[in-house]
Amino acid sequence: MSEISEAVRSRYAGAAKKIELLPLDSTVGCCQVDGPDCGCAGSYSSGELNEIGLSDGISLGCGNPTMLASLEPGEIVLDLGSGAGLDVLLSARRVAPGGHAYGVDMTDEMLALANRNRDRAGVNNATFLRGSIESIPLPDASVDVVISNCVINLAEDKAAVIKEAFRVLRPGGRFAVADMVELEPLSAELKQRLDSWAGCISGTVPINEYRAALVDAGFSEPEFDVHATQSLPGVGKVGSAYIRARKP
Ligand SMILES: C[S@@+](CC[C@H](N)C(=O)[O-])C[C@H]1O[C@@H](n2cnc3c(N)ncnc32)[C@H](O)[C@@H]1O
Repeated sequence: MSEISEAVRSRYAGAAKKIELLPLDSTVGCCQVDGPDCGCAGSYSSGELNEIGLSDGISLGCGNPTMLASLEPGEIVLDLGSGAGLDVLLSARRVAPGGHAYGVDMTDEMLALANRNRDRAGVNNATFLRGSIESIPLPDASVDVVISNCVINLAEDKAAVIKEAFRVLRPGGRFAVADMVELEPLSAELKQRLDSWAGCISGTVPINEYRAALVDAGFSEPEFDVHATQSLPGVGKVGSAYIRARKP
């Protein structure tokens, strides 16, 4: 495992343990970009959370990708970097009956937490898979919708992740992702910091680079909607974006 992957894995192993200890109604925020500019608070309606009996305190995301995708009963959904499982469990409810939601995550502590949350929520059409989002453990053309929440920025090889998302989607499949993007160049020093990479800042890329990776992989109609920004005085600016694209 590379230094960056290990920094990410170790941060989210620790986060899983903290989430497990929180009262059910607490909020831990999205990566390190918690605060008034983040736009994370309020991403989930109390109605949808009540359906599964969980709080958005278990989310480490930077938006709500499930609201981008118009999920339909019978569809297969895959969440890249599923963490404690909130987006998988919400998706599973929306694709029932007949559909299934998968989450892929590389951190054992997060997978254990997600499985416990699935049992608490009483959802039986969700599966959490151990694996890397650069090499997704699902067959070609097996998924209708790929979602992800504040994860692709953490990958060292974002182009590989986006190619994998394209591979597992069926023709006509949707890519519906919340992620952090670089809005003003980050300082070279900040880009090197592993803690800041694991905190969803230093691994961000500009929208043009993200868009090019989607187009190179074969996606059409890429759209970016920046819904919150965070200035980092003297060292750059990042934002939370909703990103949509389609496999032709
Ligand atoms: C910021 S958390 C987001 C978790 C979840 N999506 C949410 O919204 O709460 C990042 C998650 O992605 C996982 N992750 C990061 N990089 C990964 C990779 N390359 N392959 C698989 N999982 C990864 C981490 O283990 C962690 O659970």
